[in-house]
Amino acid sequence: MNNAEIATLHSEFVMGTYAPELALVRGQGCYVWDADGRKYLDFGAGISVCNLGHCHTGVTEAIQRQAATLVHVSNLYYNENQPRLAAVISRKSFGGKVFFANSGAEANEGMIKFARKWGASRGKHEVIVMQRSFHGRTLTTLAATDKPKYRDGFAPDMEGFRFVPLNDSDAVEKAVTDKTAAIMLEPVQGEGGVHVSDRPFLQFVRDLCDQRDMLLLFDEVQCGVGRVGTLFAYQHFSVVPDAMSLAKALGNGFPIGAFEVAGKWAGVLDKGTHASTFGGSPLACAAALAVFDAIEREDLLFHCRKMGEHLKGELVQLSQKHTCIREIRGLGLMIGVECDSPVADIVTAAAANGLLVLTAGETTLRLLPPLVVTPQEIDAAVAVLDKVLGSRVKPA
Ligand SMILES: Cc1ncc(COP(=O)(O)O)c(C=O)c1O
Repeated sequence: MNNAEIATLHSEFVMGTYAPELALVRGQGCYVWDADGRKYLDFGAGISVCNLGHCHTGVTEAIQRQAATLVHVSNLYYNENQPRLAAVISRKSFGGKVFFANSGAEANEGMIKFARKWGASRGKHEVIVMQRSFHGRTLTTLAATDKPKYRDGFAPDMEGFRFVPLNDSDAVEKAVTDKTAAIMLEPVQGEGGVHVSDRPFLQFVRDLCDQRDMLLLFDEVQCGVGRVGTLFAYQHFSVVPDAMSLAKALGNGFPIGAFEVAGKWAGVLDKGTHASTFGGSPLACAAALAVFDAIEREDLLFHCRKMGEHLKGELVQLSQKHTCIREIRGLGLMIGVECDSPVADIVTAAAANGLLVLTAGETTLRLLPPLVVTPQEIDAAVAVLDKVLGSRVKPA
């Protein structure tokens, strides 16, 4: 089937909650191909999912091997891959215990349940969250997400979330009540426009949580698993949370989510308090084990930091030529290009020129190439943006 035929079939049978324009049929490394045979440089990586590039050999082989051995067992039984993966996450982070889910929203939902359970004996249930946050589309994670448009029509909101501006210590302190169980944030906000937390702010909220008996929860669904040049984003800031959620790049495209809880709180969710049928299946965990293996073997954290610097440098140069660019921000290979007007037309024009990029909010272009990206691929992507911005008729 070609692009048009797939689009027709899709619109007839799939709910219209998304608005795709291309049908992608194959991927390799930093490239994908559409159903009409056109090749694209993918600077979205499935929205920070395919961090090792498309169809990474190590992950593909691990999935194939495990798929031929044992795909699924329920959590009524042990499966060796689950504790092996939990051990890798724990040893490479803050030594906690892990619960496995299937997506970012489900991981966050579980992490919020953990905070509520922790707070129940203390008479606390509220969570302070940040403006411009995105935590998912389930009813609870939606209530923690600062995008009223996403909540339209789904009232009433789950109660108990208070929004404050990111990096505003005074506002956070003022929002704390005797009902506050936790502060939850993305160390680097993704959907909200690629906004990076200040280190002193994160240290402030860490100290505040310790002083006022609250939990610090980090949503690393988008910024974790190498994306910002450290394995977990909190490591860049040297501020350790009480719990952290992961998903997206954890399986390099195979669905898996997780949240890790610090050792001292690992018993809060005890027997029977939380569950997920598919969570931590042998197959999903095999994919994620291969991801951590590849990140280490290919020295991808160092490479990510180097490529991030290169990409930022090129974009700064581009901003001197194109005055519609207001700011370049981000960390590692999670980069936002803030423009002076909506950027949807740039995304469309870039795709027409063989480059896939994302938006983050109305006026920010978001670049999330696979961490294996080369300097030549970065230069090629920036050349497309240069061309697109040069011939652009700015939207009114
Ligand atoms: C920071 C963050 N949290 C949670 C989610 C939700 O993840 P999922 O779409 O896998 O449910 C996303 C998705 O973009 C995200 O960026």
